[in-house]
Amino acid sequence: MKKLKKGYFITFEGADGCGKTTQSRLVQKYIEDCGYDVIWTREPGSAGLGQKIRELLLHYDGDVAPMCEAFLFLADRAQHIEHLIKPAVAQGKIVVCDRHTDSTIAYQGYGRGEDINQLKYLNNLATGDIKPDLTFVFDVSTDVAQKRVGSEKDRMEAAGVEFHKKVRDGYLEIAKNDPTRVKIVNADNNIEKVFEDTKTILDNFLNQ
Ligand code: TYD
Repeated sequence: MKKLKKGYFITFEGADGCGKTTQSRLVQKYIEDCGYDVIWTREPGSAGLGQKIRELLLHYDGDVAPMCEAFLFLADRAQHIEHLIKPAVAQGKIVVCDRHTDSTIAYQGYGRGEDINQLKYLNNLATGDIKPDLTFVFDVSTDVAQKRVGSEKDRMEAAGVEFHKKVRDGYLEIAKNDPTRVKIVNADNNIEKVFEDTKTILDNFLNQ
């Protein structure tokens, strides 16, 4: 196993249907094949209590107040950081995480219209001193995303095309404001091309 001077925390972001779960799995395999110690995880619902929060967030069929939704994602995140991400990074592992803080800014902030500065503050409370070292935003057009998601939608995916547009624009804004950490990948392309673009960015990051 190759030893790193420090662990890395890499997040995968984008609107529903962008294909980031496929890409994060490919990256996990690629990093493993390069000889590094890697963990794949996701939000919401990494393990244990997080699974229960995920169930509520994605499948509860009553009304959910936007700030209630935000706090549930944040509660899951606080648990995830403390129990999994922080210890793994401290042990020198690479943590590949499917969604994290930027999802809250894009979905609850830009998508649902909650105050973005407040959400940033709450994200900081939930994560403490841990921030992603690198973030991929998989940018997908609404048409391609709708086709990929299909007709079986969870509560968030059922939010509609307008919502998707706001989330997408939100991600582009996040990337514009933090270009060193956040890299955009065109996710309208096929899996192989998207992975190739992702790998170029990742190789640059790991070799820097
Ligand atoms: P999931 O099934 O994991 O979808 P995906 O494969 O697209 O990641 O569902 C996660 C949903 O939760 C997704 O629609 C985005 C949403 N979400 C938020 O709205 N805020 C958040 O902070 C997070 C982590 C996810």
